[in-house]
Amino acid sequence: MGKGLVLLEGTDWVRHRRVINPAFNMDKLKMMISTMTGCAQSLAKELEDVASKNKDRVTEVDLNQKFRELTADIIAHTAFGSSYQLGKEAFQAQHELTEITMATLFQVQLPGLNYLPAERNRRKWRLEKNLRDTLMQIIRSRLSSKDGEYGNDLLGLMLGACASHEQGEASGLSMDEIVDECKTFFLAGHETTSLLLTWTVFLLSVYPEWQERLRNEMTMVLLETLRLYNPALFIQRKPTTDTTVGSLTIPAGVAVYIPVPIMHRDREVWGHDAGEFNPLRFRDGAARAAAGTPHALLSFSIGPRSCIGQGFAMLEAKAAMAAMLRRLSFGVSPGYVHAPVDLITLKPKFGLPVIVRLLDA
Ligand code: HEM
Repeated sequence: MGKGLVLLEGTDWVRHRRVINPAFNMDKLKMMISTMTGCAQSLAKELEDVASKNKDRVTEVDLNQKFRELTADIIAHTAFGSSYQLGKEAFQAQHELTEITMATLFQVQLPGLNYLPAERNRRKWRLEKNLRDTLMQIIRSRLSSKDGEYGNDLLGLMLGACASHEQGEASGLSMDEIVDECKTFFLAGHETTSLLLTWTVFLLSVYPEWQERLRNEMTMVLLETLRLYNPALFIQRKPTTDTTVGSLTIPAGVAVYIPVPIMHRDREVWGHDAGEFNPLRFRDGAARAAAGTPHALLSFSIGPRSCIGQGFAMLEAKAAMAAMLRRLSFGVSPGYVHAPVDLITLKPKFGLPVIVRLLDA
């Protein structure tokens, strides 16, 4: 993952967040809408074409898989623009590295084992080198651009912000730090958003009446999905001083895990229908959805460390859902098994097989 925004602390985090924040301004994100919509429309078109060829105008697909590909495509386009092909190669290497890490995450780690030239380690080192070399190649070609413009994608906006900082204060980012932030964009922004889409389609398949309403009530449906099937399961914090929360005293330095799914289904906070899908609870906005608790929805966290990409994710999810719902409707396949699992993020263990139906024009 590298030492990007997600893992940094203290003054390094402040410096990185300051440089990267402008890239996620709503004005900048708006320039990315057409890219997001374009990618989403290609997926919708692919599904429409397949369904239209079949009897009954119906087809079955694993949308969890399709959404993973879609959000990887969108982040490669919005992060790297014209260098999109190389960006995709970098993300592919990163994806394979994540798989190696996940496969060994819960194995007992013997000291020194990671340094042996065993087959898996050699593959890991090769992938790490490819990833770094590819990202460096993209960044160098941007820095040497003749017109002095870095571009309107996330990388370009980050390089532009670094250049303006360099002139005034010593608070830009080094080459290695920019490489690490590129990795962070993919890891923090790809799977989370694809899971938001997956769980939205799951809930819309179970509550088909909402598919019709979604066209007008998109934000409410997405917020309710984030409440019930929140992709990021835990937030971690360490108090810097002894802190009292209700009846608990938490000594300074003790790691606290905030279990978001449990809090998101707490009846005391959300009311008797906390376990039900009811997007209307968000009709007056997220802050008023839980009576008396304005920050009850923790999907993107709150405070200075909250998700920098939340505006990006919501725009992307709306672009994707709008494209998908234009001419398609969804129902959960009889083969679907409901098994949400905690694999760092909340995933459907057996994917999301969905019957996709082409609507009459
Ligand atoms: C539905 C989609 C998403 C969810 C649910 C989500 C969730 C979160 C949460 C809960 C945090 C805060 C963790 C904490 O408080 O300790 C976070 C941080 C972060 N997210 Fe997201 N995220 C999403 C999409 C994105 C996207 C699209 C990007 C970038 C393209 C992104 C980039 C980041 C980064 C860089 C941080 C670290 C911010 C910091 O520490 O300063 N996220 N995300």
